[in-house]
Amino acid sequence: MAKIAVVSADDSHLHYVAGLIAQNANHVVQRTPAVPAQALAQPGLMLGTDLLIVEAPDFSTEDIAQLRRITTEHPDTLCMLLTEHPSADLLMRAMRAGVQCVLPWPPDAQEFRDELQRCTSHALSNGRAEGQVLSFVSCKGGSGATFTAANFGYVLATRHKKRVLLVDLSQQYGDAAFMMTDQTPPATLADICRQVDRLDAALLDACVTHVCPGFDVVPAAGDPVKAGEVRAAHLERIMAVSRQQYDAVIFDVGQDINPASIVVLDQSHLIYAVLRRSLAHLRAGRRLFEILHSLGYHTDRVRLVLNGDDRHAAIAPRTMEDAFGMRVAHVLPIDPGPVRDASDQGQPVAQLAPNSAIARALADMARQLYPDAQPRRDNLLRKLFGQGSQVPATARA
Ligand SMILES: Nc1ncnc2c1ncn2[C@@H]1O[C@H](COP(=O)(O)OP(=O)(O)OP(=O)(O)O)[C@@H](O)[C@H]1O
Ligand SMILES: [Mg+2]
Repeated sequence: MAKIAVVSADDSHLHYVAGLIAQNANHVVQRTPAVPAQALAQPGLMLGTDLLIVEAPDFSTEDIAQLRRITTEHPDTLCMLLTEHPSADLLMRAMRAGVQCVLPWPPDAQEFRDELQRCTSHALSNGRAEGQVLSFVSCKGGSGATFTAANFGYVLATRHKKRVLLVDLSQQYGDAAFMMTDQTPPATLADICRQVDRLDAALLDACVTHVCPGFDVVPAAGDPVKAGEVRAAHLERIMAVSRQQYDAVIFDVGQDINPASIVVLDQSHLIYAVLRRSLAHLRAGRRLFEILHSLGYHTDRVRLVLNGDDRHAAIAPRTMEDAFGMRVAHVLPIDPGPVRDASDQGQPVAQLAPNSAIARALADMARQLYPDAQPRRDNLLRKLFGQGSQVPATARA
């Protein structure tokens, strides 16, 4: 299954292309109703995309320059153009821009099928590298596991250009989605579990709430009865499907260690244990670590996160390290103003207060997971060449 982004300003054309694709194979289709210039400038358009199909009556020099930029920045993504009058000149310019094929609109069904197969075979044979599973657990209510999981996910998606899915496993009053968006979710975790037998990439994509390009959320079941319907086998299937589509699948496990969350912890590449620097958290944290130990998890996989930290805390970080037998991996400072504003407004703190102490600490935490951070290079390039500067296609070809 490949991910295909289809761009057209005409809704009926979008629908037609999506229908042609659906007749041929079960791919994930992301429709973008916009003219090429607008769609191609969207930062999230290419995230995880294997094939980009752009339909328009004609393509300007600027459109071709944008396509050239995209094919250079995303060498694994192939590109198909559909246009009413594919002139020899357009074919030449498109080819120079790295476009794989140009078909006349409306496409001949057989020709479209052949090209679709050719342009998706690389994605199907290579297979996408599976995403990693990251779990956030807490030993005591209010330690900040949800805040950290959600905001960390946002930073991975926006600064590191990862495709991230946040899944709220809370049994009762899941609030992870509310911290990021005020959208009405198309589905909750319980809804997805109910249809898990037919879960595939397309259904998952229809169920998630899109917070921003590259960052999707599955809210919690919503009430305790529905939460009880979330079974270990469901989560196994959700992980299998979502790891194909996302670079990181983040679970807000919270305090609930139960058969379902154990399946998630079993498959977690990293388990972030979020706690505060206090005696109460130290005691409760030791119990949590005993449980993790009894489940056989090696400490290599566990990261100790001291959240809401302030230098007046009665217990030294060293005492926490001695108690848990591991180094503190991340210290997130107490930063009540930005955290409260972000939570109240349902916005990521890195978006609302990018220079706040907590946003900077979350950025550091993300950089430790993905050290080859893209933003620095981007910033450097922007400084060198000026924002939005583009070399004309003819000059580059
Ligand atoms: N670094 C921080 N600085 C200031 N306030 C914080 C910080 N981290 C979290 N908070 C606040 O602490 C409270 C609890 O955070 P959160 O809901 O994320 O904790 P939790 O561990 O998920 O709790 P629960 O057990 O209810 O799921 C929230 O009001 C949140 O805004
Ligand atoms: Mg929580």
